[in-house]
Amino acid sequence: MQLRFDMRDHTAVSASSASVTPAYKPKTEPPTERDGVRQTFAEINRLIGLDEVKTLFYEVYAYTTVQQRRKREQLKAEPTVLHAIFSGNPGSGKTTVARLMAKLYREMGVLSKGHLVEVERADLVGEFIGHTAQRTREQIRKSLGGVMFLDEAYSLTRGGEKDFGREAIDALVKGMEDHKNDFVLVLAGYRREMQEFLESNPGLRSRFPLHVDFADYSTEELLQIADCMYQERQYQPSEAAMRELERCLLHAKASLPAAVRGNARSVRNLVEASLRMQAVRLTESVTAAMQNKEMLCRIEAVDICSAARRLAQKRQEKCAAGEIIYMNHGEDKITEEISIAYD
Ligand SMILES: Nc1ncnc2c1ncn2[C@@H]1O[C@H](COP(=O)(O)OP(=O)(O)OP(=O)(O)O)[C@@H](O)[C@H]1O
Ligand SMILES: [Mg+2]
Repeated sequence: MQLRFDMRDHTAVSASSASVTPAYKPKTEPPTERDGVRQTFAEINRLIGLDEVKTLFYEVYAYTTVQQRRKREQLKAEPTVLHAIFSGNPGSGKTTVARLMAKLYREMGVLSKGHLVEVERADLVGEFIGHTAQRTREQIRKSLGGVMFLDEAYSLTRGGEKDFGREAIDALVKGMEDHKNDFVLVLAGYRREMQEFLESNPGLRSRFPLHVDFADYSTEELLQIADCMYQERQYQPSEAAMRELERCLLHAKASLPAAVRGNARSVRNLVEASLRMQAVRLTESVTAAMQNKEMLCRIEAVDICSAARRLAQKRQEKCAAGEIIYMNHGEDKITEEISIAYD
């Protein structure tokens, strides 16, 4: 995972220069009295992987806290600018992290409310002159005290010269200036497209001191994420079920491009579908009186298999309707080949 961070001079430093720092041991648990901050860090640390995001949060926390103390001591305090760019594939945790970031900033006293407002092009761009600035200002107003999360930010420059997307960018930049003390903007999207977007808008990059690149999860991490999702819901997958899940993930890895594999989102879809399949299996095979606590919690390999099959079927229907482009190899023969569905 690549990560850039320099909140002092408002200029992102390159990842390569950051990596020459000698043996720095990252810390992720803050020594703080504030319960809210501790609880939010505990939530962040419960996420699987994302080590660099955890370290970044700690650094932002430490830096901001020291600036707040310096201010109290009437020392010069650097303004902490927290606008961020999150790049990565779907399901790599961007929205989850943005939500926790908003919460952390509220607990740290940086933002007054700490809510997350998710917006996309259609929420900002209008259809006639003047409409876009008005729409964008309205979304900024809703986001004040919290974080505005703009997914697929590059869609704002996709429409060419005559498009109103640029007007939205101008209104966003103005909002960042006008409300710099109680408004954080996160621009998110695919890595390559974000890169191109920033290159074509050179003035933008320097306004975003935090750059976080979300790598795809490894199969091992995805299995841990699945395990957490089952535990949170009080389910217990059998060993065979976890092996089946691993088989599905490996199959997906071998047959789909990383950009459409769906990372943790696909895992969540599969986990949730397997709960429905378990319910169907129990309903059809065991009388209600016989369904004991263990059975109600247990996820079997067959539930994963049925879930993968069900999702593949749905995906095939979506493909036929032209709603998605990518097909997993072999999905045209799903009776023989089981694969995960991706949205
Ligand atoms: N590191 C993680 N640990 C546990 N669960 C995770 C992790 N990352 C993501 N998830 C779960 O995976 C799902 C998808 O994550 P999220 O919505 O944050 O991804 P995203 O990058 O915003 O995707 P998209 O680009 O499609 O919007 C969520 O249910 C989230 O809780
Ligand atoms: Mg998202």
